[in-house]
Amino acid sequence: MSARGVGHGLGKLVLCGEHAVVYGHPALVFAVDRRTTVELAREPGPTRVVSHADDARVREALCAAVEPEGWRVTVRSDVPVGRGMGSSAALAVALVRARADVDGEALDADEAFRRALPVERVFHGNPSGMDVAASVRGGLIRYRRGDPPDVEPLPAPTGWSVVALDSGEAGDTARLVAAVAARRPAVDAALDRIGALVGACAGCLRDARALGELLDENHALLRAIGVSTPRLDALVELARSAGAHGAKLAGAGGGGVVLALVDDPAPVLEAARRAGVTALPCAVGAA
Ligand code: PMV
Repeated sequence: MSARGVGHGLGKLVLCGEHAVVYGHPALVFAVDRRTTVELAREPGPTRVVSHADDARVREALCAAVEPEGWRVTVRSDVPVGRGMGSSAALAVALVRARADVDGEALDADEAFRRALPVERVFHGNPSGMDVAASVRGGLIRYRRGDPPDVEPLPAPTGWSVVALDSGEAGDTARLVAAVAARRPAVDAALDRIGALVGACAGCLRDARALGELLDENHALLRAIGVSTPRLDALVELARSAGAHGAKLAGAGGGGVVLALVDDPAPVLEAARRAGVTALPCAVGAA
């Protein structure tokens, strides 16, 4: 065992399929070029956390991977917290990789997924696992939950990029997933249609115009199942008015970010700046 270890995990954005993925439909999700890094170092005394986000759940997650005594755990991240960009999955992945590094183990993507998923459960109860899968693999994947899940890496998309527009509000994933469950079976047709949109999106990943229209429809369906907010709808409109091919909330909703599909990020970034909205240009992240 070494006295130090380091690991990282990438953030993510859902291109299409959130909520429906909980019920066995596929989803398209990609890792973004933002990451969380965990560094473990031996230190006498109780384990302590040095982090920008040192809350009770972070400490509970850490307990899953390190002993209560003897470690300094340093967490650094540029993944926004509570914005549907996979911050908890990135932390879970970084943590299990750092622990494996201490133990001198090399983890492949499947093993990192298997170890990080229970850590993610500390945050989300019963996540589909797509955040963790994107975080460990990088790139764009088609994901279907299962034991084991079906994960298909897709070629890196070309010809478009993404801007994430921050609503400034945090969404509560567990609460939103429970709210959708409570609206079934009335929302089942919308969930089925979201599942079908995923297949359509996968078929036009190089056609930004067609893809944008499908993302618009995805947002309308997410509204219909009750997970959007007036603020998220306004950000979708802002993106479209600034020339985005399409825009949708990304993640559980109730807050978090809107994903805008663009050729050139500049007009959407400028519109966001004028409206006082925090905007994050995002590229697909490599593992
Ligand atoms: O907001 P996030 O990043 O936690 O994404 C949630 C995505 C859901 O499909 C709503 C839930 C899940 O576990 O896949």
